[in-house]
Amino acid sequence: MSEIVYLNGDFMRLEDARVPVLDRGFIFGDGIYEVIPVYSKHPFRMQEHLARFRRSHDAIRLAYPLSDAEWTRLVKDLISRNAGDDQSIYLQVTRGVAKRDHAFPKDTQPTIFGMSSLLSTPAREVVENGVAAITTIDYRWLKCDVKSTSLLGNCLLRQVAADAGAVEVVMFRDAFLTEGSSSNVFVVKNGTVLAPPKTNLVLPGITYDVVLELAQANGVPHEVRQVSEAEVRSADEIWVTSSTKEVLAVTTLDGKPVGSGKPGAVFKRMHQLYQDFKRTVMRQAA
Ligand code: PDD
Repeated sequence: MSEIVYLNGDFMRLEDARVPVLDRGFIFGDGIYEVIPVYSKHPFRMQEHLARFRRSHDAIRLAYPLSDAEWTRLVKDLISRNAGDDQSIYLQVTRGVAKRDHAFPKDTQPTIFGMSSLLSTPAREVVENGVAAITTIDYRWLKCDVKSTSLLGNCLLRQVAADAGAVEVVMFRDAFLTEGSSSNVFVVKNGTVLAPPKTNLVLPGITYDVVLELAQANGVPHEVRQVSEAEVRSADEIWVTSSTKEVLAVTTLDGKPVGSGKPGAVFKRMHQLYQDFKRTVMRQAA
């Protein structure tokens, strides 16, 4: 089954989808996107993803081109036209095609694109052993709360991790924890989960919210506050979270073991809570 994508009103095979080279997404990275996980053909936290998508449009002064009902229809169509029960839906809107000029063009139609790929959540061995991360300075721009397609900083930083054989970077700005190149970061210190607040310096992760909601609902001690570099370096546990990684333990940081060097007790509890929550939500959706 070939992948079916959506482009500006039509569904087509991925290999047939074409965007003009003057698209501002190509020329300037002038666009925003969303990634929505799908379990058993049901989108997870759809309303929350759409709310963030709308905020991203507002942040870059782009009119929200479809209604929430239309996005929902589009996502459902992509799910049913593509293979796999568990998928990752990618939506992207750019400011459209125009003569190259930094200032916004007038009367240009946005480019609207949607695709699906198989959702590959971390394999059991990865969940059981955790992953390696390395630390870097966060040199990205000051609007990291916008889910922008301008991801050069994130790509350069992720490659630093890849070059070191690690899966993610844990970033600091002014000696405080921000996030990873494509994930939020939590640490655990003396049994308390610490999460950096949702400021302009981090993406407000949908998974981040789920993790904090689960901590709250299940009596897991947690604090949302600035986390210093020293606290990260001496943490008992470090986690990364995202729609595709879910909740994953970082077991080495810069080559040194985090805590015992194995996923910790609080991680195991949260991972289980997350899996149970997913199952409950999907049962309700079915
Ligand atoms: N990335 N921080 C950054 C910089 C991200 O790119 C992401 C997600 C997250 C986690 O957000 P969420 O829990 O809503 O997935 C945090 C997606 C998956 C991506 O770019 O592919």
